[in-house]
Amino acid sequence: MKTLRLALVALIGIALLVSAWQGPPAVAQENVNKAIDEKFSKYDEKLPLWSIQPGTAPRMIELTIYFNNMWFGAQAGNWDLARFEAYRSEETIKGVYVVRPKRIASLKPWAESALPALIKAIEAKDKAAFEKAYDTAIAGCNGCHVGSSGGPLKSMAAFKITRPTAPLFSNIDFKGR
Ligand code: HEC
Repeated sequence: MKTLRLALVALIGIALLVSAWQGPPAVAQENVNKAIDEKFSKYDEKLPLWSIQPGTAPRMIELTIYFNNMWFGAQAGNWDLARFEAYRSEETIKGVYVVRPKRIASLKPWAESALPALIKAIEAKDKAAFEKAYDTAIAGCNGCHVGSSGGPLKSMAAFKITRPTAPLFSNIDFKGR
């Protein structure tokens, strides 16, 4: 009789525990979310999803394209096109900060001086100021290249940027409409 009562009490105890249990504690889920966020927020070359993200060089090719378009937009008085390319330049650089934090120290000072100067001239529709800001910006490209290593190269001086002489895309009418 006594054993039966004990067993009953134990059963009721277990039933109460089970009914009180509402899945894993919220704090555990929070920690999982935090861990996932951290994985997705910090570059980790060991993870395939991160390692396939474009590094510096592909962003540099984008910059080269944007700077070509920007030049011919400005030459055609198409300030909207030029403005867009300056915006794209800013955006593509943000990607480098995420995947190659070691480039921030050299890239950010350029991005935060050269691009705003270009944007100012573009928004003022001032061709002379634009050309001056453009020359300063590409001097910055080259200055950084001389002092930066990349892949197998100790210096990226091999890449000397100039004013473009021909548009990259024959299918863009730089005058716009
Ligand atoms: C942070 C300083 C820095 C600035 C500013 C900079 N670059 Fe670069 N650039 C680099 C580095 C570093 C590499 C090599 C990247 C690598 O190894 O992934 C590079 C590579 C390049 C390449 C070769 C890419 C390839 O895949 O063939 C081109 C083209 C280029 N840059 C154009 C430009 C242009 C145009 C500008 C200015 C509008 C510019 N860069 C500004 C540092 C800079």
